[in-house]
Amino acid sequence: MVRKSLINDVALRAKDHGYEDWGPPILFTNREIRRMFALADIREHDIFFDLGCGWGQNLIIAATEYGVRKCIGIEIDLGRYRTAKRRIERWPEEIAQRIRIIPRYIGDVMDDKIDGVDIRDATVVFWGLDPVKKMLNKFEAKLQKRCKLLYYFKCLFPEIIPKDSSFPFYMSTIPLRAPNSEMDWLQRVVPKAKTSLPNSSVLTERELWDEMIHDYNILGFTKFQAEHEIGEYKSRLREALRKRNN
Ligand SMILES: C[S@@+](CC[C@H](N)C(=O)[O-])C[C@H]1O[C@@H](n2cnc3c(N)ncnc32)[C@H](O)[C@@H]1O
Repeated sequence: MVRKSLINDVALRAKDHGYEDWGPPILFTNREIRRMFALADIREHDIFFDLGCGWGQNLIIAATEYGVRKCIGIEIDLGRYRTAKRRIERWPEEIAQRIRIIPRYIGDVMDDKIDGVDIRDATVVFWGLDPVKKMLNKFEAKLQKRCKLLYYFKCLFPEIIPKDSSFPFYMSTIPLRAPNSEMDWLQRVVPKAKTSLPNSSVLTERELWDEMIHDYNILGFTKFQAEHEIGEYKSRLREALRKRNN
């Protein structure tokens, strides 16, 4: 009997791509998800949390392809939660029982308000939402040492440097590390080796900020939005460096 692939079970509608509802319920292609997990070197013994798990694709790939023993998704949108649950229930029990989706706010899990779920158990965490500063403090306070925090190019934290990256993904580990300078952060986020400016031999910060604006534009932001987002990173980074040096 030919069985339909369980991975080919979604159809995103135009409205699912919108930003007004927290972005698409699945952010990445499966190949990209594998690249993200390769970056984290995720394994069977890991405990993976997807904070805002949408339709649960990251959890499904973690459990089915990497054998991850515990995959926990937090999702506040009840429609998305139900779809994710339905998708997971189609898998054999041995796999489905390793995935749990919880219809609650991320803040609830970070503040220990969900019985039986402890974010301190996490060894790999994915963050694909606004890079709000207060989440960084929560990560630092609650995640265990060496826990791997995964995020991606549209959700960067200017206050920390990634330990490693595989575009569009970045990984930091606990304890989180602050950048030493603007260039330090920029070069870890935009690993460009040489200047493209004629008659110049030095790569400047300005060039790397411009490259980020360009890439954001290519990834779907208007030029205006791209400039705004990158401007935010720039002022947050400068503010963090100022505080650190005072
Ligand atoms: C952009 S989607 C990403 C889905 C998934 N992580 C992925 O990588 O494919 C983000 C999801 O987070 C959910 N979300 C946003 N804020 C949340 C919150 N405070 N608590 C729980 N879920 C939240 C949204 O409903 C949305 O489905």
